[in-house]
Amino acid sequence: MADYHIEVMIPEDEVDRRIKEIGEQITKDYAGKQVHLICVLKGGSFFLCELAKRINLDVSLDFMSVSSYGGDTKSSGVVKIVKDLDESIKDKEVLIVEDIVDSGRTLSYLLSMMKDRKPASLKLCTLLDKPSRRVMDVKVDYTGFEIPDEFVVGYGLDYDQKYRNLPYIGVVKFD
Ligand code: IMP
Ligand code: MG
Repeated sequence: MADYHIEVMIPEDEVDRRIKEIGEQITKDYAGKQVHLICVLKGGSFFLCELAKRINLDVSLDFMSVSSYGGDTKSSGVVKIVKDLDESIKDKEVLIVEDIVDSGRTLSYLLSMMKDRKPASLKLCTLLDKPSRRVMDVKVDYTGFEIPDEFVVGYGLDYDQKYRNLPYIGVVKFD
């Protein structure tokens, strides 16, 4: 039997409403431009789909997948690229779409790597942010919700690869 249960932290209608707001903000901020959304798999995928539908501009998409190195290198923030982007981002208006910024290690590494590829602009949009957990300084341009230091699932986020498909943000409570 499971020794935990999941409680609702942010209900579905609130998540949907906030994504709509961010989409409207992005539409204003990038007016007249094409936005190139980069989704960090797998967690960012649910947010990316909902967000892209709320951006009233030309949008193109690309996907990448990364995993953290274990052991000593973890603190250095080096992440391994499991799947790189299909297309060049040079001269594009790039917006990285993530599920959550926690320690900031993944994003700090990804942002510096993306910067080297010379996009026209580079911004970061995250559904969730746990600022109290930050180890590496990361500038977040669009945040859905700031949340406390709790382990959350749903809307792309998993616990042991499960619960990504929950339509709300849940918190894992250990019994
Ligand atoms: P970082 O610590 O900011 O590098 O975050 C690394 C990754 O850890 C995130 O992209 C998520 O995939 C995962 N993660 C961090 N916090 C949570 C959580 O509360 N639930 C599920 N995954 C999480
Ligand atoms: Mg992630």
